[in-house]
Amino acid sequence: MLTPESRGSLSEAVFRALRTGETSRLAEAPPSDTAEDAQLTLWALYEQHYRGFEDVAGELEWDPQLISLRRGLEQEFERTLRSRMPEVPEPEGFAEKFFDFVADHDGPSLAAHVHRKATEEQVRELLRHRTIYHLKEADHTTWVIPRLSDRVKAAVMELQFDEYGGGDPNLLHAHLFVRGLQDSGLNSEYGAYINEAPLEVLEENNAMSLFGLNRRLRAASLGFLAAFEATSSAPSRRMAQGLKRLGFPATMIEYYTEHVEADAVHEQLAVRTICGALLEEEPELHDDVYFGAFSALDLADRYAERMLTQWAG
Ligand SMILES: [Fe+2]
Ligand SMILES: [Fe+2]
Repeated sequence: MLTPESRGSLSEAVFRALRTGETSRLAEAPPSDTAEDAQLTLWALYEQHYRGFEDVAGELEWDPQLISLRRGLEQEFERTLRSRMPEVPEPEGFAEKFFDFVADHDGPSLAAHVHRKATEEQVRELLRHRTIYHLKEADHTTWVIPRLSDRVKAAVMELQFDEYGGGDPNLLHAHLFVRGLQDSGLNSEYGAYINEAPLEVLEENNAMSLFGLNRRLRAASLGFLAAFEATSSAPSRRMAQGLKRLGFPATMIEYYTEHVEADAVHEQLAVRTICGALLEEEPELHDDVYFGAFSALDLADRYAERMLTQWAG
């Protein structure tokens, strides 16, 4: 993957610095023009810690100027996310309260639209946007593993082992998505569609990296995971039915049918065993579990809202 097209003054200055390695003047970089400019810049700075860009030198992963810039952007983003938070439930009876919190949260459903009404072109657009996450599915949770106690770590590993194909490279969830994309005639190279990713997709992906890469936010990372898993099984069934209705290839449908069963198990594991054990050991992290969970639900809503409005117009 190459560095993306810039979307404003800040991303232009930062991407140029990434490509040339001349980062010394970044302290004087212009502020971001728009939220999209800021989020795309942050996304690219986080990408340095994943597979990175072919046109950026590996040494720049820990360049102090870039790290300092990333820190500024993520602090601002974290403030924005926290300002959106509603009141959280009381800590007693965590798992039941958490499942209720997720069930009571009602937002627009993209899966329902895909199930009954979406056109093939709309679904292809949705799949292109989803490549930004699904092609590195589960990676953001892996950052958290060394930051956990043995008990929580073992439970996270059980879930991750499944996401990563149980040792079989053909069964990685990211790889199942690759096969679905290829058979649907879409580009399965990571980052191929970054230039068309809207603000909401960048925010969702950046939230996962923010929580995963900051130890103090480990509870938010696991809360995000729990809410994500708890809202995946039923929508995955609707996605599969919609893809079938539109005649998408079997491999693309299978990516979603795989998640109907897998995530029905993962949600129990993530809520009860992972977040439950974390909070038994560190009860003071309770509100951060909800910070992550609410962010997962709210960011998914914002994306759904945007796409449904765009398609209705
Ligand atoms: Fe998965
Ligand atoms: Fe899962």
